[in-house]
Amino acid sequence: MGKNKLAKFAEMATYEHVVQAPYNKLNESDHELKGKWAETFFKNHQPLVLELGCGKGEYSVALAEYFPEKNFVGVDIKGARMWNGSKQAFDKGLKNVGFLRTNIEIIDSFFGAAEVDEIWLTFPDPQMKKNTKRLTATNFMNKYRQFLKPEGIVHLKTDSNFQYQYTLAMARENNFPILAETEDLDQSPLLDEVLSIQTFYEKQWRERGLAIKYLAFRINRDKPLREPDVEIEKDPYRSFGRSARE
Ligand SMILES: C[S@@+](CC[C@H](N)C(=O)[O-])C[C@H]1O[C@@H](n2cnc3c(N)ncnc32)[C@H](O)[C@@H]1O
Repeated sequence: MGKNKLAKFAEMATYEHVVQAPYNKLNESDHELKGKWAETFFKNHQPLVLELGCGKGEYSVALAEYFPEKNFVGVDIKGARMWNGSKQAFDKGLKNVGFLRTNIEIIDSFFGAAEVDEIWLTFPDPQMKKNTKRLTATNFMNKYRQFLKPEGIVHLKTDSNFQYQYTLAMARENNFPILAETEDLDQSPLLDEVLSIQTFYEKQWRERGLAIKYLAFRINRDKPLREPDVEIEKDPYRSFGRSARE
């Protein structure tokens, strides 16, 4: 049987590679690590990659093992999930991966201008009803572009046709350079060792026979962003609900 939530939280509190600063703890000021992840947290100047909504964090851990020359931070609000990745990183002795437990709504309080090289969004909830909660909506892009390098890349991996079509439309509406796009990764030459790594949610969606979609793009930096004015068909399978397993 797995550890209970309190034990997981207690263990995470002992980890130096885990920062816990949810919205209600930050008191509207920037976090002390903002602009200082290289010198203070990782103690080197390797490129910094974020996984936003990392869940159990196994993708961040796998990326950190695959790219020892880069640093990774997995971000999520759910501590009991994040415990899995943070424990894996600890047990493996990985020094180039950390975890940040916070609300992505305040992600710009943690990273300074041009501090981040890449952002991964792995299987985010498509938030079909509320676009301001959608992690690829323009309100979030406005935050990401404050800390992403000019040549920085946003990667989206998703099962959701709605999320994929929305994000493509959002990127096109704002003239974001699109670097890669596929509606079916397994049938695409884009599939490589990195994109073959499967997250916890990805495995579940694959078991249900869903094609995995992938999109990579840059964010234009200066102009005000516009939401796309498009009608996108909702994903029918989501109405069946999804297990709330950790
Ligand atoms: C569908 S799960 C995907 C988890 C993981 N990336 C995977 O593929 O297995 C979405 C995750 O995003 C996190 N999340 C969604 N919105 C968030 C927000 N605004 N702030 C922090 N975490 C958020 C949730 O807590 C959840 O763990």
